[in-house]
Amino acid sequence: MKRRDFLRNAAFGLCAGVAGVPWAGLKLSPWSGLAFAARNAPFSVPLPTPSAGGALFGFATPEGPVELVAAASGLAPQPNIAAPVWSYQLASGDRVIHNPIFRLKQGDKLQLAFRNALPEQSIIHWHGLDADASQTGQPRYAVGPQGRYEYAFSISNRGGTYWYHPHPHGLTAKQTYLGLASFFLVEDEDERRLSSALGLELGVTDIPLLLQDKRLDGQGRLVYAPSAEEMIMGYQGDAICVNGAVQPYLEIGSRPYRFRILNGSTARLYRLGFVRNGAPQPCQLLGVDGGLLDAARTLSEFFLSPGERVDLLLDCSDLAVGDELVLRNLPFDPMHREEMGVSPAAPAGHGEHGAHGAEHGAPAPSAHAGHAENAGGVGEGADYPILALRVRQRVDEKRVLPETLSALPAAPAPGKADRTFTLGFHAKSGQWRINGLTFAMDAVPIQILSRRLEIWEFRNDAASMPHPMHTHGYPFRVLQRKNSPRQVRELAVAEGGLSANDLGVKDTVLVWPKETVQVAIDFRTPAYAGEQIFLLHCHNLEHEDRGMMLNFRVAS
Ligand code: C2O
Ligand code: CU
Ligand code: CU
Repeated sequence: MKRRDFLRNAAFGLCAGVAGVPWAGLKLSPWSGLAFAARNAPFSVPLPTPSAGGALFGFATPEGPVELVAAASGLAPQPNIAAPVWSYQLASGDRVIHNPIFRLKQGDKLQLAFRNALPEQSIIHWHGLDADASQTGQPRYAVGPQGRYEYAFSISNRGGTYWYHPHPHGLTAKQTYLGLASFFLVEDEDERRLSSALGLELGVTDIPLLLQDKRLDGQGRLVYAPSAEEMIMGYQGDAICVNGAVQPYLEIGSRPYRFRILNGSTARLYRLGFVRNGAPQPCQLLGVDGGLLDAARTLSEFFLSPGERVDLLLDCSDLAVGDELVLRNLPFDPMHREEMGVSPAAPAGHGEHGAHGAEHGAPAPSAHAGHAENAGGVGEGADYPILALRVRQRVDEKRVLPETLSALPAAPAPGKADRTFTLGFHAKSGQWRINGLTFAMDAVPIQILSRRLEIWEFRNDAASMPHPMHTHGYPFRVLQRKNSPRQVRELAVAEGGLSANDLGVKDTVLVWPKETVQVAIDFRTPAYAGEQIFLLHCHNLEHEDRGMMLNFRVAS
């Protein structure tokens, strides 16, 4: 099937399937982001960090019950800041922290009342945290306007960089995009050892970075208006934000820095790396979604899909005052491809596809090009800057990274899959599906009748696009990648074609077109009491909202 046919069929499916909805075919929705992006040079605003005293992303360590309110933020739009339309609000003394970064210790109890002051239903999902089905925040527990939901659970996770965002069915992408998302950091013994060995201070030298792409209108207001095509391909912004600021800078000292990077975009993939004077600057990978690796791994680039996190150490000790390092997106083929062996175009803003995606054959015109043209050079897979680090201060602090970070057991060997999940496009409905199925609140197509270690295999169709697959309730280990595209094979560092950031405890794994990925998921831990119904879904939030999500039941 040629790309155009694919999209035509898709559009057809949408038109046929959704009676009465005035789908504008596949016309891209108009937006004024171009003007906005073009007049703002990168690195003109400082990175908003909690320690800089801003109202956004302040740290919070609740010691008793707290109330978290999802509401209109009331924050004024600003040209270079994607002021959230909506935010999670925590009263703290006489001020309000918007999108608080929670920091709790393993063993602490979270007692939190969620109040929904939005004009539509919502619920908070604690992404990656071990909490039973009634506590993890899934669509079936969504509450309407003025509704409340009480959370109370103990933190049993490994130390790590988790996060939270809304999860009402059909509205997850929009609400996350409009501002509802932040970090949930868990500290444990391993974390404390690492922090003290490196002399790290959260918010100063240990910095959470939330990456999101946004469309902003001329006043800096967020726009979420996906077209029918964008519900299929994913909604891409034209402004790359870090903690809400568009391509900001951070002033640093000459010492090691820890960056915990979360891809909180609805659909955008990043291939990230630090670059200095045009040369890659290696860093140490300390951890991934579910906490620290056994030992740090040196790497200079990695893919990060929506929902995933990496925990990095960047040693800036040898830099001089005045030096600048840039966190960049490096060019790659986003593989929004719809037929085997032929790559869609490398449209204007998409950078040097050819260099990395050359095996995919001749470029063909892409219906997606509209984005890239409008995207001011930040089309998905283009070469663009994200964050500048400017050395402003000489710090003489020699620090040694511990050889062992944590006692992470080895992952099991790949083997025969207990279950397979095929990821593919259903043209008639215009939906991405898992095993041909689409989400229904009360259907539970995956039954785990005995709690043991299972091998799950994700098989992405060749005529597909990348899908970041995510599980609620249980983390997993990545065992093997097969039929990976070259740009993924090139990053393999371990048996089974695994990349460095496949090596730790994961809750989201990117599956490329044509690729087969095996993971091991252990239903014995956490040992939730009673029957549990959790979700398996694609973390491309447009895909999820349109039903690329299934319930799974774990019997008691
Ligand atoms: Cu972060 Cu069900 O997702
Ligand atoms: Cu989740
Ligand atoms: Cu998907």
